[in-house]
Amino acid sequence: MNTIPKHVAIIMDGNGRWGKLHGRSRSEGHYAGSKTMEELIDVSVGIGIEVLTLYAFSTENWKRPKEEVNYLMSLPVKFFNQKLPEFMKRNIKILISGDIENLPKGTRNVLVKAIEETSDNTGLIVNFAMNYSGRSEMVQAAAHIIQDVKENKISIDQLDEKTLENYLYTRTLPDPDIVIRTGGEKRISNFLMWQSSMSELCFVDELFPDFKKPLFIKALKGVYHRKQALNI
Ligand code: FPP
Repeated sequence: MNTIPKHVAIIMDGNGRWGKLHGRSRSEGHYAGSKTMEELIDVSVGIGIEVLTLYAFSTENWKRPKEEVNYLMSLPVKFFNQKLPEFMKRNIKILISGDIENLPKGTRNVLVKAIEETSDNTGLIVNFAMNYSGRSEMVQAAAHIIQDVKENKISIDQLDEKTLENYLYTRTLPDPDIVIRTGGEKRISNFLMWQSSMSELCFVDELFPDFKKPLFIKALKGVYHRKQALNI
């Protein structure tokens, strides 16, 4: 692996606990997380990462209290209204992995606008996993493949790993080199299950709002040095 990974994916866990720890609400924890996210986007541009995937909302997150879900749906609106001009200036391209059709209209509209406006940008790709589930992604891919076979668009003998990848949200992206999870839990939680088959997994104890530049660099370096030490 080169020192700079092409694709880094992050499970941004620990926002709620961070809020509590600081005597604030879970939503305030998410807001603090969104500020950390901004910093990591900035660092990624700086060090030349090509793709940064951020797990912003899983399909399981709908089970959270209504107030928290509403807040998580409002955050992208606030975030993109504020950051989109800067993303344009910095040549950042926004992609979404997940089912955006079933998001509230205001959230969906702002995401579609961000995707469209940044579609010709050629710098860092920030891929937000929004209303994302790795299992649903596989089910949808299977359904879509069956449909295309029925319509003679592909034949069954053509089906291989590359073909299947064309049916995933991430079809235009390289697989993640590294998947980082903050917040101390050592689980993948339905995140990029196909795409992370060969990724380095990096679990850090710090809560996501505290996962700022020095810890991010340390995590990337840790993976790199481990690989060197193993002489892979
Ligand atoms: C998990 O922490 C985190 C989330 C469910 C949401 C992450 C979202 C952001 C960091 C901001 C997204 C913003 C935009 C603009 C897309 P948790 O609440 O499960 O933490 P806990 O384990 O402490 O409860």
